[in-house]
Amino acid sequence: MAWLLPRRCYLKVCSQTSRGPFLSSIVRAWSGGPLTAYMPEAVSFPGSKNHQGLYRMSVEQVDTFWGTLGRNRLTWISPFHSVQDCNLEQGWVAWFLGGQLNVAVNCLDRHVHRAPNKVALIWEKDEPGKEVQITYRELLELTCRLGNTLKRQGVKKGDRVTIYMPPCPLAVASMLACARIGAIHMLVFAGFSAEALADRIQDAQSETVITVNQGLRGGRVTELKQTVDQAVKWCPKVKRVLVSMRTEQKVPMSDLDVPLDEEIMKEDVCCEPVAMDSEDLLFLLYTSGSTGKPKGLVHSQAGYLLYAALTHKYVFDYHDGDVFGCVADIGWITGHSYVVYGPLCNGGTTVLFESTPLYPDPGRYWETVERLRINQFYGAPTAIRLLLRYGDKWVKKYDRSSLKILGSVGEPINTEAWEWYFNVVGEARCPVVDTWWQTETGGICISPRPSDPGDEIRPGLAMRPFFGISPCLLDDKGNVLTENDVSGALCISQAWPGMARTIYNDHKRFLFMFLTATGFFFTGDGVYRTSEGYYQLTGRLDDVINISGHRLGTAEVEDAVNQHAAVAESAVIGYPHNIKGEGVYVFLVLKKGIYISRETLTADLQELISKKIAKYAAPEYVQITSRLPKTRSGKIMRRVLKKIVENKAHQLGDLTTLEDYEAVQKIIEEHKCLL
Ligand code: WTA
Repeated sequence: MAWLLPRRCYLKVCSQTSRGPFLSSIVRAWSGGPLTAYMPEAVSFPGSKNHQGLYRMSVEQVDTFWGTLGRNRLTWISPFHSVQDCNLEQGWVAWFLGGQLNVAVNCLDRHVHRAPNKVALIWEKDEPGKEVQITYRELLELTCRLGNTLKRQGVKKGDRVTIYMPPCPLAVASMLACARIGAIHMLVFAGFSAEALADRIQDAQSETVITVNQGLRGGRVTELKQTVDQAVKWCPKVKRVLVSMRTEQKVPMSDLDVPLDEEIMKEDVCCEPVAMDSEDLLFLLYTSGSTGKPKGLVHSQAGYLLYAALTHKYVFDYHDGDVFGCVADIGWITGHSYVVYGPLCNGGTTVLFESTPLYPDPGRYWETVERLRINQFYGAPTAIRLLLRYGDKWVKKYDRSSLKILGSVGEPINTEAWEWYFNVVGEARCPVVDTWWQTETGGICISPRPSDPGDEIRPGLAMRPFFGISPCLLDDKGNVLTENDVSGALCISQAWPGMARTIYNDHKRFLFMFLTATGFFFTGDGVYRTSEGYYQLTGRLDDVINISGHRLGTAEVEDAVNQHAAVAESAVIGYPHNIKGEGVYVFLVLKKGIYISRETLTADLQELISKKIAKYAAPEYVQITSRLPKTRSGKIMRRVLKKIVENKAHQLGDLTTLEDYEAVQKIIEEHKCLL
């Protein structure tokens, strides 16, 4: 690729960075503080023996615990004066106040000084066996060139930069270049449609888009630049589209478009990092909630980075020299925290996986593990369920002796998948860490901690809170459930450094959605606390569905369905799907006097939803009915429809508010015919 630079450039950046003006102003972490007594080295946690004690300290002596880590783990330009100032009741969360740092310096420069030739990224390209390795020095250079390109194009501190790219080194460098110059990045998963992309660009008031000519996934080409062209037509404020060449294929370039690979090569390999306040915005990431359009969650600099780095190190027991393989797309929060920020802040080697679990065959993950000698593998239950259907031979064909830990994220992992992952993939010697967290939480919150050898791990349980996390369960009246062997709504009762700070331009909505009147962070998930006090996640409590680990608001899909000319009203439900976890099921009523076959309507809606949202959101089932079940006040009773699609029509629960029982009977009969 054009931006893989000749060696002389590394020398230049190396000599300049070592004398660079910013370095002299970096206040090196100061060691000491009460926590060091527990630590074998000044900057790491002790072994297992003290885990419980450390956990208690993390939630009870917040300033001591997090202050020591903040000083020891991050490199500051100017030190913070207060560890935190948080009041969840008022929705105010701030960590490391008064401190200034640069996230790119923390992820790159300080490692370049120590080990410039250490591999930072291994880009596992879609084409198997064609991986590209990028050292810390190369990544720093690329980031600096890109930072200079952005500045030359007029991007300033605080501007939002949209990144619509598949996993590739340039995407990582784009994130870090934004961080270096103080811009705020906003990744949009490269599977989202032009409309979904345009909605996000507009909501974020972003003037800059970075993309590639084409994507390549599972051997298939995706026309990413075309999608961007379409999206920017609806976004008059976009001033520039920076286009890199992932494939050889030329694409039409307009006045807005900038050939990125050529521009990068003209720029200097040094780019002064901007001193950012701890609470300045680092990135926005849009995610689905139970109502309306996706919201731009805001993560800030220091707290997020520290939390991503710590969870990466301790949940996965990451050690220097390990190769960390998180196969999530960088467009999701898992990609942000565990492909990019966590591993790079720790100076690790991280894999960027561009392909799919089935390309070119169902052995792809394990062939990659063998070839790259991956030590920690982090993936989603949906892929595990898919692969176990192809049998053990695709796994056993490859050497997996490098593996030490297997991670799972995105949805509950069912026992069959857990057992297969543990016994077949991990040969019953690698702990499986089922990690629960959310875009809102910034990093893993509940998970076994295998670096503590005393820790027990149970299939299907996320087990224990990570440092700083105080889970609490609420009943449906908002009372705190203190006992064990109890189910409730999962909340977190005190602020932690990695949590999202707000919704972009809508703090009121953030308060309304995530903070209870009593000052708890409300996750939207249900949880069971076992008699031993372990946590088992039981699924969403709201109208969010989880398809292959991707969140989707039913309201978003209904909004798209209702735009079809034949549809009067609709209700969208998630139904149990044995590979994807959940699938999309649409109930709808046609407009009066319209006739359209179910097959045609299904095909239309699949196309419409792929266009408006993304392919993964397309419905599998469409059921046309004459009336939707409603309460006497006219609200659709989704709870009743959910029972029907789960084939639990015999357990519809309390129907006293239902207006029209016959409508339900009819829907049950129609549903049976449809299956
Ligand atoms: C679900 C992904 C059970 C949950 C990191 C959460 C899980 C939503 C797990 C967040 C898990 C994630 N067990 N459910 N280990 N991990 N979830 O924002 O419903 O894309 O609220 O973040 O995924 O999805 P998000």
